[in-house]
Amino acid sequence: MTAPISDRVTDPSLRADGERKMEWARQHMPILAVLREQFVDNRPFEGERIGMAMHVEAKTAILAEVLAAGGAEVAITGCNPLSTHDDVSVALDAVGGVTSYAERGIDDETYYEAIEAVIDHDPTITVDDGGDLVFAIHEEYPDLIDTIVGGCEETTTGVHRLRAMAADGALEYPMFAVNDTPMKRLFDNVHGTGESSLASIAMTTNLSWAGKTVVVAGFGYCGKGVARKASGQNADVIVTEVDPRRALEAHMEGYDVRPMAAAAGEGDVFITTTGNRDVIVEQHFERMADGVLLANAGHFDVEIDLDALAALAVDSYEAREGVQAYEMPDGRRLNVLAEGRLVNLASPISLGHPVEVMDQSFGVQAVCARELVENGDDYEAGVHAVPDDLDREVAEIKLRAEGIETDELTPQQREYVDSWQHGT
Ligand code: NAI
Repeated sequence: MTAPISDRVTDPSLRADGERKMEWARQHMPILAVLREQFVDNRPFEGERIGMAMHVEAKTAILAEVLAAGGAEVAITGCNPLSTHDDVSVALDAVGGVTSYAERGIDDETYYEAIEAVIDHDPTITVDDGGDLVFAIHEEYPDLIDTIVGGCEETTTGVHRLRAMAADGALEYPMFAVNDTPMKRLFDNVHGTGESSLASIAMTTNLSWAGKTVVVAGFGYCGKGVARKASGQNADVIVTEVDPRRALEAHMEGYDVRPMAAAAGEGDVFITTTGNRDVIVEQHFERMADGVLLANAGHFDVEIDLDALAALAVDSYEAREGVQAYEMPDGRRLNVLAEGRLVNLASPISLGHPVEVMDQSFGVQAVCARELVENGDDYEAGVHAVPDDLDREVAEIKLRAEGIETDELTPQQREYVDSWQHGT
Protein backbone atom coordinates (compact mmCIF):
# COMPACT_ATOMS: atom_id res chain seq x y z
CA MET A 1 0.00 0.00 0.00
CA THR A 2 1.17 3.52 -0.79
CA ALA A 3 2.62 5.29 2.22
CA PRO A 4 0.84 8.47 3.28
CA ILE A 5 2.23 11.61 1.69
CA SER A 6 3.80 12.69 4.97
CA ASP A 7 6.08 9.63 4.86
CA ARG A 8 7.20 10.39 1.33
CA VAL A 9 7.68 14.13 1.57
CA THR A 10 9.52 14.81 4.75
CA ASP A 11 10.81 18.37 4.39
CA PRO A 12 9.23 20.16 7.39
CA SER A 13 9.39 23.52 5.61
CA LEU A 14 6.79 22.15 3.17
CA ARG A 15 4.26 21.97 5.98
CA ALA A 16 4.84 25.59 7.01
CA ASP A 17 4.47 26.77 3.40
CA GLY A 18 1.30 24.75 3.00
CA GLU A 19 -0.15 26.12 6.24
CA ARG A 20 0.57 29.67 5.07
CA LYS A 21 -1.26 29.04 1.79
CA MET A 22 -4.20 27.53 3.67
CA GLU A 23 -4.37 30.48 6.06
CA TRP A 24 -4.57 32.87 3.10
CA ALA A 25 -7.35 30.84 1.48
CA ARG A 26 -9.22 30.52 4.80
CA GLN A 27 -9.24 34.31 5.20
CA HIS A 28 -11.03 34.68 1.85
CA MET A 29 -13.61 31.92 2.17
CA PRO A 30 -16.49 33.45 4.16
CA ILE A 31 -19.02 30.81 3.09
CA LEU A 32 -16.91 27.96 4.42
CA ALA A 33 -16.26 30.01 7.57
CA VAL A 34 -20.01 30.21 8.28
CA LEU A 35 -20.50 26.51 7.50
CA ARG A 36 -17.53 25.63 9.70
CA GLU A 37 -19.21 27.34 12.68
CA GLN A 38 -22.42 25.43 12.00
CA PHE A 39 -20.55 22.14 11.66
CA VAL A 40 -18.48 22.67 14.82
CA ASP A 41 -21.74 23.24 16.75
CA ASN A 42 -23.77 20.41 15.20
CA ARG A 43 -21.10 17.83 14.23
CA PRO A 44 -23.20 16.53 11.29
CA PHE A 45 -20.46 14.21 10.05
CA GLU A 46 -19.73 12.45 13.36
CA GLY A 47 -18.98 8.81 12.50
CA GLU A 48 -18.84 9.50 8.73
CA ARG A 49 -15.81 8.77 6.57
CA ILE A 50 -15.49 11.14 3.62
CA GLY A 51 -13.30 10.04 0.68
CA MET A 52 -12.21 12.83 -1.64
CA ALA A 53 -10.40 12.94 -5.02
CA MET A 54 -9.90 16.59 -5.89
CA HIS A 55 -7.22 19.08 -6.93
CA VAL A 56 -5.29 19.24 -3.67
CA GLU A 57 -4.34 22.87 -3.21
CA ALA A 58 -5.14 25.46 -0.59
CA LYS A 59 -8.86 26.00 -1.28
CA THR A 60 -9.64 22.29 -1.39
CA ALA A 61 -7.69 21.89 1.84
CA ILE A 62 -10.08 24.31 3.56
CA LEU A 63 -13.08 22.26 2.39
CA ALA A 64 -11.45 19.08 3.78
CA GLU A 65 -10.70 20.87 7.04
CA VAL A 66 -14.28 22.14 7.37
CA LEU A 67 -15.71 18.64 6.80
CA ALA A 68 -13.29 17.31 9.45
CA ALA A 69 -14.39 20.11 11.81
CA GLY A 70 -17.91 18.70 11.41
CA GLY A 71 -16.76 15.35 12.76
CA ALA A 72 -15.78 13.51 9.56
CA GLU A 73 -12.75 11.33 9.10
CA VAL A 74 -11.48 12.66 5.75
CA ALA A 75 -9.15 10.83 3.34
CA ILE A 76 -8.13 12.79 0.26
CA THR A 77 -6.02 12.40 -2.87
CA GLY A 78 -5.56 14.33 -6.11
CA CYS A 79 -7.73 14.08 -9.21
CA ASN A 80 -4.92 14.99 -11.60
CA PRO A 81 -1.25 13.99 -11.39
CA LEU A 82 -0.03 17.56 -11.87
CA SER A 83 -2.43 19.73 -9.86
CA THR A 84 -1.36 18.85 -6.31
CA HIS A 85 0.58 21.36 -4.23
CA ASP A 86 2.85 19.10 -2.15
CA ASP A 87 3.23 21.68 0.61
CA VAL A 88 -0.55 21.94 1.01
CA SER A 89 -0.89 18.16 0.91
CA VAL A 90 1.61 17.83 3.77
CA ALA A 91 -0.07 20.62 5.79
CA LEU A 92 -3.49 19.06 5.22
CA ASP A 93 -2.23 15.65 6.29
CA ALA A 94 -1.31 17.26 9.61
CA VAL A 95 -4.88 18.53 10.21
CA GLY A 96 -6.74 16.42 12.81
CA GLY A 97 -9.11 13.96 11.15
CA VAL A 98 -7.57 14.31 7.67
CA THR A 99 -5.20 12.00 5.78
CA SER A 100 -3.81 13.23 2.46
CA TYR A 101 -2.32 10.89 -0.13
CA ALA A 102 -1.90 13.54 -2.83
CA GLU A 103 1.48 14.18 -4.42
CA ARG A 104 2.46 16.17 -7.51
CA GLY A 105 4.07 14.63 -10.56
CA ILE A 106 3.29 11.00 -9.77
CA ASP A 107 2.93 8.39 -12.51
CA ASP A 108 -0.41 6.81 -13.37
CA GLU A 109 0.20 3.76 -11.23
CA THR A 110 0.91 5.80 -8.10
CA TYR A 111 -2.07 8.05 -8.91
CA TYR A 112 -4.43 5.06 -8.83
CA GLU A 113 -2.68 3.60 -5.76
CA ALA A 114 -3.47 6.86 -3.95
CA ILE A 115 -7.13 6.55 -4.96
CA GLU A 116 -7.11 3.02 -3.56
CA ALA A 117 -5.55 4.31 -0.35
CA VAL A 118 -8.54 6.67 0.02
CA ILE A 119 -10.95 3.82 -0.70
CA ASP A 120 -9.21 1.77 2.01
CA HIS A 121 -10.77 4.17 4.53
CA ASP A 122 -14.20 2.68 3.61
CA PRO A 123 -15.82 6.03 2.78
CA THR A 124 -19.48 6.57 3.58
CA ILE A 125 -19.53 9.74 1.42
CA THR A 126 -17.45 10.42 -1.72
CA VAL A 127 -16.49 13.82 -3.08
CA ASP A 128 -15.07 13.64 -6.59
CA ASP A 129 -13.74 15.95 -9.30
CA GLY A 130 -13.84 14.01 -12.56
CA GLY A 131 -15.37 10.78 -11.28
CA ASP A 132 -12.24 8.65 -10.76
CA LEU A 133 -13.13 7.78 -7.17
CA VAL A 134 -16.74 6.76 -7.87
CA PHE A 135 -15.61 4.83 -10.91
CA ALA A 136 -12.90 2.93 -8.98
CA ILE A 137 -15.36 2.06 -6.20
CA HIS A 138 -17.89 0.66 -8.67
CA GLU A 139 -15.25 -1.25 -10.67
CA GLU A 140 -12.99 -2.57 -7.95
CA TYR A 141 -14.74 -2.29 -4.59
CA PRO A 142 -18.49 -2.83 -5.15
CA ASP A 143 -18.81 -4.35 -1.64
CA LEU A 144 -18.39 -0.85 -0.22
CA ILE A 145 -21.45 0.51 -2.02
CA ASP A 146 -23.94 -0.72 0.60
CA THR A 147 -22.42 1.51 3.26
CA ILE A 148 -22.03 4.60 1.05
CA VAL A 149 -24.77 7.17 1.67
CA GLY A 150 -23.96 9.13 -1.49
CA GLY A 151 -21.54 11.54 -3.06
CA CYS A 152 -20.94 14.86 -4.79
CA GLU A 153 -19.33 15.53 -8.19
CA GLU A 154 -17.57 18.80 -8.86
CA THR A 155 -17.04 19.05 -12.62
CA THR A 156 -18.82 18.82 -15.98
CA THR A 157 -16.79 15.85 -17.21
CA GLY A 158 -17.45 13.94 -13.99
CA VAL A 159 -21.20 14.63 -14.22
CA HIS A 160 -21.17 13.41 -17.86
CA ARG A 161 -19.43 10.21 -16.72
CA LEU A 162 -21.96 9.71 -13.93
CA ARG A 163 -24.91 10.26 -16.28
CA ALA A 164 -23.40 7.69 -18.68
CA MET A 165 -23.05 5.25 -15.76
CA ALA A 166 -26.64 5.93 -14.67
CA ALA A 167 -27.93 5.42 -18.24
CA ASP A 168 -26.22 2.01 -18.27
CA GLY A 169 -27.78 1.17 -14.90
CA ALA A 170 -24.25 1.06 -13.46
CA LEU A 171 -24.44 3.89 -10.89
CA GLU A 172 -25.39 2.34 -7.58
CA TYR A 173 -25.56 5.21 -5.16
CA PRO A 174 -26.92 8.78 -5.25
CA MET A 175 -24.62 11.52 -6.54
CA PHE A 176 -25.22 15.27 -6.46
CA ALA A 177 -24.28 17.05 -9.70
CA VAL A 178 -22.65 19.95 -7.85
CA ASN A 179 -21.25 21.20 -11.17
CA ASP A 180 -24.70 21.88 -12.59
CA THR A 181 -26.06 24.13 -9.86
CA PRO A 182 -26.07 27.92 -10.45
CA MET A 183 -23.82 28.79 -7.49
CA LYS A 184 -21.14 26.57 -9.04
CA ARG A 185 -21.42 26.63 -12.80
CA LEU A 186 -22.23 30.32 -13.36
CA PHE A 187 -19.20 31.39 -11.35
CA ASP A 188 -16.61 28.60 -11.19
CA ASN A 189 -16.80 27.42 -14.80
CA VAL A 190 -17.29 30.88 -16.27
CA HIS A 191 -15.29 33.33 -14.13
CA GLY A 192 -12.98 30.85 -12.40
CA THR A 193 -11.83 29.06 -15.54
CA GLY A 194 -11.69 32.29 -17.52
CA GLU A 195 -9.62 34.24 -15.02
CA SER A 196 -7.31 31.48 -13.88
CA SER A 197 -6.59 30.00 -17.32
CA LEU A 198 -5.63 33.38 -18.70
CA ALA A 199 -3.59 34.22 -15.61
CA SER A 200 -1.73 30.90 -15.76
CA ILE A 201 -0.94 31.27 -19.46
CA ALA A 202 0.27 34.85 -19.01
CA MET A 203 2.41 34.00 -15.97
CA THR A 204 3.86 30.86 -17.56
CA THR A 205 4.81 32.59 -20.82
CA ASN A 206 5.33 36.21 -19.77
CA LEU A 207 3.46 37.15 -22.98
CA SER A 208 0.71 39.71 -23.51
CA TRP A 209 -2.90 39.13 -24.56
CA ALA A 210 -3.33 42.49 -26.25
CA GLY A 211 -3.30 42.22 -30.02
CA LYS A 212 -3.29 38.42 -30.00
CA THR A 213 -5.81 36.18 -31.74
CA VAL A 214 -7.12 33.67 -29.21
CA VAL A 215 -8.96 30.58 -30.45
CA VAL A 216 -11.36 29.18 -27.85
CA ALA A 217 -12.56 25.65 -28.61
CA GLY A 218 -16.02 25.12 -27.10
CA PHE A 219 -18.42 27.87 -26.06
CA GLY A 220 -19.86 26.16 -23.01
CA TYR A 221 -19.65 27.62 -19.51
CA CYS A 222 -15.84 27.48 -19.42
CA GLY A 223 -15.42 28.62 -23.03
CA LYS A 224 -17.67 31.64 -22.44
CA GLY A 225 -15.53 32.69 -19.50
CA VAL A 226 -12.27 32.23 -21.37
CA ALA A 227 -13.59 34.10 -24.44
CA ARG A 228 -14.98 36.98 -22.35
CA LYS A 229 -11.82 37.45 -20.29
CA ALA A 230 -9.55 37.19 -23.38
CA SER A 231 -11.69 39.77 -25.11
CA GLY A 232 -11.47 41.94 -21.98
CA GLN A 233 -7.67 41.77 -22.27
CA ASN A 234 -7.89 43.22 -25.81
CA ALA A 235 -7.41 39.97 -27.70
CA ASP A 236 -9.40 39.06 -30.83
CA VAL A 237 -11.36 35.91 -30.12
CA ILE A 238 -12.33 33.12 -32.52
CA VAL A 239 -14.71 30.44 -31.19
CA THR A 240 -15.02 26.89 -32.52
CA GLU A 241 -18.13 24.84 -31.70
CA VAL A 242 -20.07 21.72 -32.70
CA ASP A 243 -23.40 22.72 -31.14
CA PRO A 244 -25.38 25.06 -33.44
CA ARG A 245 -27.00 26.96 -30.55
CA ARG A 246 -23.74 27.57 -28.75
CA ALA A 247 -22.15 28.61 -32.06
CA LEU A 248 -24.97 31.08 -32.63
CA GLU A 249 -24.67 32.40 -29.09
CA ALA A 250 -20.94 33.02 -29.69
CA HIS A 251 -21.74 34.78 -32.96
CA MET A 252 -24.35 36.99 -31.24
CA GLU A 253 -21.83 37.81 -28.51
CA GLY A 254 -19.67 39.26 -31.27
CA TYR A 255 -17.02 36.55 -31.64
CA ASP A 256 -15.85 35.10 -34.95
CA VAL A 257 -17.04 31.51 -35.24
CA ARG A 258 -15.05 29.15 -37.47
CA PRO A 259 -14.22 25.48 -37.78
CA MET A 260 -10.91 24.59 -36.15
CA ALA A 261 -9.44 23.83 -39.58
CA ALA A 262 -9.93 27.52 -40.50
CA ALA A 263 -9.03 28.93 -37.08
CA ALA A 264 -5.81 26.88 -36.90
CA GLY A 265 -3.99 29.17 -39.31
CA GLU A 266 -5.14 32.36 -37.58
CA GLY A 267 -4.63 31.84 -33.88
CA ASP A 268 -1.72 32.90 -31.70
CA VAL A 269 -3.10 31.13 -28.63
CA PHE A 270 -5.42 28.07 -28.61
CA ILE A 271 -7.40 27.16 -25.49
CA THR A 272 -9.57 24.03 -25.49
CA THR A 273 -12.57 23.92 -23.14
CA THR A 274 -14.75 21.18 -24.67
CA GLY A 275 -14.48 18.18 -22.33
CA ASN A 276 -14.10 16.23 -25.59
CA ARG A 277 -11.17 14.46 -27.23
CA ASP A 278 -9.13 15.19 -30.39
CA VAL A 279 -10.19 18.81 -30.73
CA ILE A 280 -6.78 19.94 -32.02
CA VAL A 281 -5.16 17.25 -34.17
CA GLU A 282 -2.53 16.72 -36.87
CA GLN A 283 -4.28 18.62 -39.69
CA HIS A 284 -4.51 21.65 -37.37
CA PHE A 285 -0.88 21.50 -36.22
CA GLU A 286 0.15 21.55 -39.88
CA ARG A 287 -1.53 24.94 -40.41
CA MET A 288 -0.37 26.70 -37.27
CA ALA A 289 2.08 29.60 -37.25
CA ASP A 290 5.50 29.54 -35.63
CA GLY A 291 5.35 30.28 -31.90
CA VAL A 292 1.68 29.49 -31.18
CA LEU A 293 0.67 28.57 -27.64
CA LEU A 294 -1.51 25.49 -27.08
CA ALA A 295 -3.33 25.14 -23.78
CA ASN A 296 -6.16 22.98 -22.47
CA ALA A 297 -8.67 23.96 -19.77
CA GLY A 298 -10.92 20.89 -20.12
CA HIS A 299 -10.79 18.22 -17.44
CA PHE A 300 -8.72 15.53 -19.17
CA ASP A 301 -5.56 15.82 -21.28
CA VAL A 302 -7.24 14.42 -24.40
CA GLU A 303 -8.27 17.63 -26.18
CA ILE A 304 -4.90 18.32 -27.88
CA ASP A 305 -3.46 15.28 -29.66
CA LEU A 306 0.03 15.35 -28.20
CA ASP A 307 0.96 11.96 -29.63
CA ALA A 308 0.33 13.28 -33.15
CA LEU A 309 2.26 16.45 -32.34
CA ALA A 310 5.22 14.45 -31.02
CA ALA A 311 5.14 12.26 -34.13
CA LEU A 312 5.25 15.33 -36.40
CA ALA A 313 8.06 17.01 -34.46
CA VAL A 314 11.75 16.73 -35.35
CA ASP A 315 12.68 18.04 -31.91
CA SER A 316 11.02 18.74 -28.57
CA TYR A 317 12.45 20.64 -25.64
CA GLU A 318 11.43 22.65 -22.57
CA ALA A 319 11.24 26.25 -23.84
CA ARG A 320 10.42 27.63 -20.37
CA GLU A 321 9.21 26.03 -17.18
CA GLY A 322 5.77 24.63 -18.03
CA VAL A 323 6.19 25.14 -21.80
CA GLN A 324 7.23 22.29 -24.09
CA ALA A 325 8.21 23.34 -27.62
CA TYR A 326 7.65 20.96 -30.53
CA GLU A 327 9.74 21.84 -33.57
CA MET A 328 8.23 20.99 -36.94
CA PRO A 329 10.31 19.87 -39.95
CA ASP A 330 9.87 23.36 -41.49
CA GLY A 331 11.23 25.03 -38.35
CA ARG A 332 7.91 26.18 -36.81
CA ARG A 333 7.73 25.84 -33.03
CA LEU A 334 4.40 24.91 -31.41
CA ASN A 335 4.40 25.45 -27.65
CA VAL A 336 2.31 23.23 -25.37
CA LEU A 337 1.57 24.42 -21.85
CA ALA A 338 1.24 22.12 -18.82
CA GLU A 339 1.56 18.95 -20.91
CA GLY A 340 -1.94 19.54 -22.26
CA ARG A 341 -3.46 19.15 -18.80
CA LEU A 342 -5.77 21.73 -17.17
CA VAL A 343 -3.66 24.82 -17.70
CA ASN A 344 -5.09 26.72 -14.74
CA LEU A 345 -4.17 23.92 -12.34
CA ALA A 346 -1.32 21.91 -13.81
CA SER A 347 1.25 24.55 -14.83
CA PRO A 348 4.12 24.86 -12.37
CA ILE A 349 2.96 28.33 -11.29
CA SER A 350 -0.80 27.61 -11.50
CA LEU A 351 -2.95 28.51 -8.54
CA GLY A 352 -6.31 27.25 -9.81
CA HIS A 353 -9.48 29.30 -9.56
CA PRO A 354 -9.63 32.46 -7.45
CA VAL A 355 -10.29 31.72 -3.79
CA GLU A 356 -13.68 33.48 -3.70
CA VAL A 357 -14.97 31.36 -6.57
CA MET A 358 -13.95 28.12 -4.90
CA ASP A 359 -15.58 29.27 -1.66
CA GLN A 360 -18.87 29.14 -3.56
CA SER A 361 -18.23 25.79 -5.24
CA PHE A 362 -17.03 24.22 -2.02
CA GLY A 363 -19.85 25.81 -0.05
CA VAL A 364 -22.18 23.84 -2.31
CA GLN A 365 -20.09 20.68 -1.77
CA ALA A 366 -20.29 21.13 2.00
CA VAL A 367 -24.08 21.64 2.15
CA CYS A 368 -24.56 18.68 -0.22
CA ALA A 369 -22.47 16.46 2.07
CA ARG A 370 -24.60 17.69 5.01
CA GLU A 371 -27.79 16.91 3.02
CA LEU A 372 -26.53 13.36 2.40
CA VAL A 373 -26.08 12.64 6.12
CA GLU A 374 -29.36 14.34 7.06
CA ASN A 375 -31.62 13.08 4.26
CA GLY A 376 -29.57 10.53 2.29
CA ASP A 377 -32.40 7.97 2.43
CA ASP A 378 -34.58 10.28 0.32
CA TYR A 379 -32.27 9.89 -2.68
CA GLU A 380 -32.21 6.83 -4.93
CA ALA A 381 -29.11 5.65 -6.79
CA GLY A 382 -28.50 8.02 -9.72
CA VAL A 383 -27.52 11.60 -10.49
CA HIS A 384 -29.45 14.28 -8.56
CA ALA A 385 -29.72 18.03 -9.02
CA VAL A 386 -28.60 19.99 -5.97
CA PRO A 387 -31.82 20.98 -4.15
CA ASP A 388 -32.57 24.63 -4.91
CA ASP A 389 -32.85 25.62 -1.24
CA LEU A 390 -29.26 24.46 -0.65
CA ASP A 391 -27.98 26.50 -3.60
CA ARG A 392 -29.90 29.55 -2.30
CA GLU A 393 -28.53 29.01 1.21
CA VAL A 394 -24.97 29.28 -0.14
CA ALA A 395 -25.87 32.38 -2.20
CA GLU A 396 -27.46 34.06 0.82
CA ILE A 397 -24.41 33.43 3.02
CA LYS A 398 -22.21 34.95 0.31
CA LEU A 399 -24.43 38.01 -0.11
CA ARG A 400 -24.40 38.60 3.66
CA ALA A 401 -20.61 38.26 3.71
CA GLU A 402 -20.35 40.83 0.91
CA GLY A 403 -22.78 43.18 2.66
CA ILE A 404 -25.16 43.09 -0.31
CA GLU A 405 -28.88 43.45 0.35
CA THR A 406 -31.60 42.43 -2.10
CA ASP A 407 -35.35 42.92 -2.35
CA GLU A 408 -37.71 40.18 -1.18
CA LEU A 409 -40.89 38.99 -2.83
CA THR A 410 -44.02 40.42 -1.18
CA PRO A 411 -46.76 37.85 -0.42
CA GLN A 412 -48.75 39.29 -3.36
CA GLN A 413 -45.77 38.93 -5.70
CA ARG A 414 -45.16 35.36 -4.53
CA GLU A 415 -48.80 34.48 -5.13
CA TYR A 416 -48.65 36.18 -8.57
CA VAL A 417 -45.55 34.34 -9.79
CA ASP A 418 -46.85 31.01 -8.47
CA SER A 419 -50.32 31.29 -10.04
CA TRP A 420 -51.50 30.43 -13.54
CA GLN A 421 -54.91 32.19 -13.34
CA HIS A 422 -53.62 35.75 -13.80
CA GLY A 423 -53.83 36.81 -17.46
CA THR A 424 -54.29 40.11 -19.25
P1 NAI B 1 -20.08 22.57 -21.43
O1 NAI B 1 -20.72 21.27 -21.75
O2 NAI B 1 -20.90 23.71 -20.94
O3 NAI B 1 -19.27 23.10 -22.72
C1 NAI B 1 -18.52 22.31 -23.60
C2 NAI B 1 -18.75 22.88 -25.00
O4 NAI B 1 -17.81 22.28 -25.90
C3 NAI B 1 -20.15 22.57 -25.55
O5 NAI B 1 -20.76 23.77 -25.97
C4 NAI B 1 -19.88 21.61 -26.70
O6 NAI B 1 -20.81 21.76 -27.77
C5 NAI B 1 -18.48 22.03 -27.13
N1 NAI B 1 -17.75 21.00 -27.87
C6 NAI B 1 -17.76 19.65 -27.70
N2 NAI B 1 -16.95 19.06 -28.60
C7 NAI B 1 -16.40 20.06 -29.34
C8 NAI B 1 -15.47 20.09 -30.41
N3 NAI B 1 -14.95 18.96 -30.93
N4 NAI B 1 -15.14 21.29 -30.94
C9 NAI B 1 -15.67 22.46 -30.46
N5 NAI B 1 -16.55 22.47 -29.43
C10 NAI B 1 -16.91 21.29 -28.88
O7 NAI B 1 -18.92 22.21 -20.39
P2 NAI B 1 -18.10 23.21 -19.42
O8 NAI B 1 -18.79 23.33 -18.13
O9 NAI B 1 -17.74 24.42 -20.20
O10 NAI B 1 -16.81 22.31 -19.15
C11 NAI B 1 -15.88 22.03 -20.20
C12 NAI B 1 -14.72 21.20 -19.65
O11 NAI B 1 -14.01 21.98 -18.69
C13 NAI B 1 -15.13 19.94 -18.93
O12 NAI B 1 -14.16 18.94 -19.16
C14 NAI B 1 -15.11 20.35 -17.47
O13 NAI B 1 -14.99 19.25 -16.60
C15 NAI B 1 -13.92 21.25 -17.46
N6 NAI B 1 -13.83 22.24 -16.40
C16 NAI B 1 -12.59 22.75 -16.18
C17 NAI B 1 -12.40 23.67 -15.18
C18 NAI B 1 -11.02 24.18 -14.95
O14 NAI B 1 -10.73 24.58 -13.82
N7 NAI B 1 -10.18 24.24 -15.95
C19 NAI B 1 -13.50 24.16 -14.33
C20 NAI B 1 -14.80 23.64 -14.71
C21 NAI B 1 -14.94 22.70 -15.71
